[in-house]
Amino acid sequence: MRTRPLKVALLGCGVVGSEVARIMTTHADDLAARIGAPVELAGVAVRRPSKVRAGIDPALVTTDATALVKRGDIDVVVEVIGGIEPARALITTAFEHGASVVSANKALLAQDGAALHAAADEHDADLYYEAAVAGAIPLIRPLRESLAGDKVNRVLGIVNGTTNFILDKMDSTGAGYQEALDEATALGYAEADPTADVEGFDAAAKAAILAGIAFHTRVRLDDVYREGMIEVTAADFASAKAMGCTIKLLAICERAADGGSVTARVHPAMIPLTHPLASVRGAYNAVFVESDAAGQLMFYGPGAGGAPTASAVLGDLVAVCRNKLSGATGPGDSAYTQLPVSPMGEVVTRYHISLDVADKPGVLAQVATVFAEHGVSIDTVRQQGRLDGGGDASLVVVTHRASDASLTGTVEALRNLDTVRGVASIMRVEGE
Ligand code: HSE
Repeated sequence: MRTRPLKVALLGCGVVGSEVARIMTTHADDLAARIGAPVELAGVAVRRPSKVRAGIDPALVTTDATALVKRGDIDVVVEVIGGIEPARALITTAFEHGASVVSANKALLAQDGAALHAAADEHDADLYYEAAVAGAIPLIRPLRESLAGDKVNRVLGIVNGTTNFILDKMDSTGAGYQEALDEATALGYAEADPTADVEGFDAAAKAAILAGIAFHTRVRLDDVYREGMIEVTAADFASAKAMGCTIKLLAICERAADGGSVTARVHPAMIPLTHPLASVRGAYNAVFVESDAAGQLMFYGPGAGGAPTASAVLGDLVAVCRNKLSGATGPGDSAYTQLPVSPMGEVVTRYHISLDVADKPGVLAQVATVFAEHGVSIDTVRQQGRLDGGGDASLVVVTHRASDASLTGTVEALRNLDTVRGVASIMRVEGE
């Protein structure tokens, strides 16, 4: 084994960074044996240097992250500060100064993955980011390496633990969104400002990364259609149950049937209870991958948290250190297909639409005509008189597969019917 250590600069020492440092220290001998050289924590860049950090030599702590990555003797920079800047500038500087990079930064990779990969290539460096999507779950490497000889057609994932906790709570207890969110906050799953999770921004960044790797193309955050889950109601869960479904916030990346384009989207969807993703409970994540040769695969595990995320970071660190020792780099960017990302209107799926209608002769025929005029074929219709009376009824229509644009046109036209009092909910049905 080489005795000269590989030097690691850690940028950020919060929930994840402190776990990375702890595991590097407590597992130092095993890591050295697995890599073939010792790994030394050479510096830790933080914002608040006065904070006591157990197990970290205070002499290693600095507030000058730029100087740390510019030192010239750093082999690997581990970036766990998140956000766009200064992370982007620090990673670029790290490449310029001969370091490879391990990052957990989904927002940056979803926004600027192409430029970062180009910078890594230019400097013969590695850019690894297993921790950016679904925490501890090995997903980037299986897609990038294990499935590199296959053709992935679809990735369907629960990639946000906070929202899965909330939806699971609503499903299992009948709670409303706010009550379930309050519990998620009290238990530390949801942040004080849960916007990034509940509005789907976090999942959209992960969808962009997954789609790009799965389909060997470029998908940016802006390309991902996004709907959050704050409007999902207890009534939606009741409707889902009546169909043998539950509701999940899904990240869905698909290759078009003709192979000429891709789509990426995040939204709540009904999914049959028989689908493996339906059984993903609490704050767990899972990603279901469909490919030509392998068929169906599912990756499951903790998608967040200090130690689980650090596990993924450490796995990357070992891989990058091994590459450094062998004088090589690992698989880089493979966005060679340059497939266009189609707009949401071209996505084809099934829909569950709940309408409040006047309960009088001819209404069902009127509603069915609107669907037919927009080329949307109805699978089932269920009508029940409302308990509050008043001559209205609740009409639930489940469609066959149709484009999102056709469905949008249908709903607009339904809203213009005098006999339609309101569109109570529209939910896509996936995983069938
Ligand atoms: N906030 C995310 C989640 C974890 O709830 O899954 C980090 O991406």
